[in-house]
Amino acid sequence: MKRIGALLLASLIAASAAAQTVKIGVVNTFSGPNASFGELGDKAMKLYMKLHANELPAGVKLELVTRDDGGPNPDKAKQLAQELIVRDKVSLVTGAVFTPNALAIAPLATEAKIPFLVINAGTSVVTTRSPYIVRDSFTLWQSSYPLGQWAAKKYKRAYTLVSDYGPGHDAEAAFTEAFKAAGGQLVGSVRVPLQNPDFAPYMQRVKDAKPDALMVFIPAGKTATSVMKTFADLGLASAGVHLIGPGDITTDEELPNMGDVALGVMTVFHYSAAADRPANKRFVEAWKKEYGANSTPNFAAVAAWDGMAMIYTAIREQKGKLDPERTLDIFKHWKNPDSPRGPIAIDPETRDIVQNEYLREVRKVNGQLANVEIETVAQALKDPWKELKKGK
Ligand code: PHB
Repeated sequence: MKRIGALLLASLIAASAAAQTVKIGVVNTFSGPNASFGELGDKAMKLYMKLHANELPAGVKLELVTRDDGGPNPDKAKQLAQELIVRDKVSLVTGAVFTPNALAIAPLATEAKIPFLVINAGTSVVTTRSPYIVRDSFTLWQSSYPLGQWAAKKYKRAYTLVSDYGPGHDAEAAFTEAFKAAGGQLVGSVRVPLQNPDFAPYMQRVKDAKPDALMVFIPAGKTATSVMKTFADLGLASAGVHLIGPGDITTDEELPNMGDVALGVMTVFHYSAAADRPANKRFVEAWKKEYGANSTPNFAAVAAWDGMAMIYTAIREQKGKLDPERTLDIFKHWKNPDSPRGPIAIDPETRDIVQNEYLREVRKVNGQLANVEIETVAQALKDPWKELKKGK
């Protein structure tokens, strides 16, 4: 009798657990020139869920409620996040490719007291806008500061060209500060419109200034290919200008569309699909098995992948019942010594990502363009903006 009772109890518990679904709201960019973020982020999340399905507590299901913000569009992003929180009652919100979108969602996370896991938006200030934000992606200061230090060893005169908004301003400031401090001379800087820029007139100006190097930041995606093509068409490469930047300008999935003009471009970044770390080889192999040999993950995919690993940890540790404060605490102390991008951790003080930065060169590997990692230029790097400006 006792035994039957215990069995009954166990099956009742199982039944209630079976009804348990954790809803995650995703606001990502699935349309426009930067649609690769949404596509690759979604693929990464789904692949993680498929490969780790048996790691959820018994009976717990995970449901992604996914929305397209269409690009840099804060009003739309805010409205979508609001609906996800109020109507769909998601346990947390993730996504945010563009900084203005992340900034628009930040106060909602604070008000609703729900964690907001930023898997792209890279302006340093983002994480300071809500105590509920945790970012697992990158900051532009993380890539552009070491890039400036490296560039000063190779080039005397540099020019900067950036998209005229948060991450562009950060890339410009970080590069300039590091480049000048190491003895480089900045001969010019220009900011271009975020949406649909025609790069030709700006590139002409750069060419006339005859710098040794041009540092570019634009949001990754098709825009990167357009930069590359204009750079070549206007003869900057043949005039001896070296194109450098954070890895957004040589984003892995666009390399096949860029063609040989990308060869030799040097970047600093935290992720390359060509990296030969075993964890990355396993990741890329699983990706290609699932999505085909011609599909390549990029940094947005790896941020979504690691983000899903964080979400799985929070679900496991709370047995499927997510408490916002506990989830936030788990995120803040999360680390993985073996991400496809190398060792990573969240800094509990700033809720920002700590990771390595690699110097890479676009080279041909087995006939295909790849970001080949040459050197680790920074290890376990915290956001330099926060480190340098602390308390100011
Ligand atoms: C951003 O808006 O923060 C952003 C967008 C695209 C990138 C990097 C940063 O490639």
